[in-house]
This record gives sequence, structure tokens and C-alpha cells, in this order.
Amino acid sequence: MTDRLVPLISQQTIAETVKRLARDIDRDYGDRPPVVVGVLKGSFIFLADLIRAMQTPIKRVELIKLSSYGSGTVSSGTVSMQLDVPAEAIAGQDVILVEDIVDTGLSVAKAFQVLGSYSPQSLKLCTLLDKPDRRKVPVTIDYCGITIPDRFIVGYGIDFGEQYRQLPDIYTLERPIEA
Ligand code: PRP
Repeated sequence: MTDRLVPLISQQTIAETVKRLARDIDRDYGDRPPVVVGVLKGSFIFLADLIRAMQTPIKRVELIKLSSYGSGTVSSGTVSMQLDVPAEAIAGQDVILVEDIVDTGLSVAKAFQVLGSYSPQSLKLCTLLDKPDRRKVPVTIDYCGITIPDRFIVGYGIDFGEQYRQLPDIYTLERPIEA
């Protein structure tokens, strides 16, 4: 079986989007250094590009790990927190959660529930991609990159069965072709 990858978003468009998001964050935070929290694994490439495009100094970078998909293309509906952040890193801080994609919204809801319990000064969401068609819980996106259709996507950090994260562009993953 061979996965068929169809180009959806080019690395040039991704780069332009990252710059726009960084500018918007710079505009809002100015000299108020945020704590940036990336959601592993999918956001690691976006996070690295985003923080290097930002001019606002960052107070600290933290990483959390959530997992919802398992190995399939459909969200399991249950989000588990596999790596948490120290509460002291969040308390009283201006926090930006960085996601690669908001799909059902369950991952962001879980992250906001946990981070919110650590009493941040403020808590905002930045996502590269938004797939609103499959939303199960309402999510307010403060910094939104690109809205995409209800297709399974890979590349730029996003995987299918742990493959394809390294691709610089984003593709839709089409139904496997029988070999
Ligand atoms: C993906 C993606 C988001 C989340 C979005 O992570 O990276 O974190 O799902 O989906 P949702 O809005 O339906 O919750 P995944 O659970 O696949 O883990 P990974 O990032 O480690 O690949």
C-alpha cells in the first residue's frame, strides 16, 4: 500500500503565514514577554519557526505532550496529557499555547483546562492550521494561520503513523492505493 500525498500548502505560504502570526504576536505583546507553550509532537517545527520570527522577547519556552489520534486518521476522542509543565512556569504569566492544528478542539480544551488551573495572567492560542468542520468543542483562536478543509494532512511536523513530519510542505493524505 502506498500513501498518496497531494500538495496543499507550500513551504513559501507556510513561511509567509508564520511571519504574519509572529508580527501579530509582536504587536500584541510588545515588551511583555510571553511564556510560549508548544504542544508535542506536531507543533515542534512550527514552534521553532514561529519563535525565531518573533521579535518580542520570550520569557521561556515550555513543551507539553498531548495525544489524541493514536495511529489512525480519526481522533480517538480521548485526550491524554503525557507531559506536563511546572505550574510555577505558568502562574502569573502571559501564556501563548502553540498548536500545529486545531481539529476537534479536544486537545486545546484539555491544554487550556490544565494550563488555566495554574493561574496564568492570560492564556492565548496560536495555531498554524484550523480545521473547523470537525469541531466538537468551541475553541477561540487568537492567532490563526490557515483554515483548511476536512482532509487528513501531513508534513511540517504533522504525521501519519509517525511518518512525514519532516516534509517542508503540507500535503493531504489520500486513500492508500492498493499495490
Ligand atoms: C494532533 C495535533 C494536535 C491535535 C489536534 O496531535 O498535533 O495537537 O491532534 O486535534 P484535536 O483538535 O482533534 O484534538 P496528535 O494527537 O496526533 O499527536 P502528535 O502531535 O504527537 O502527532
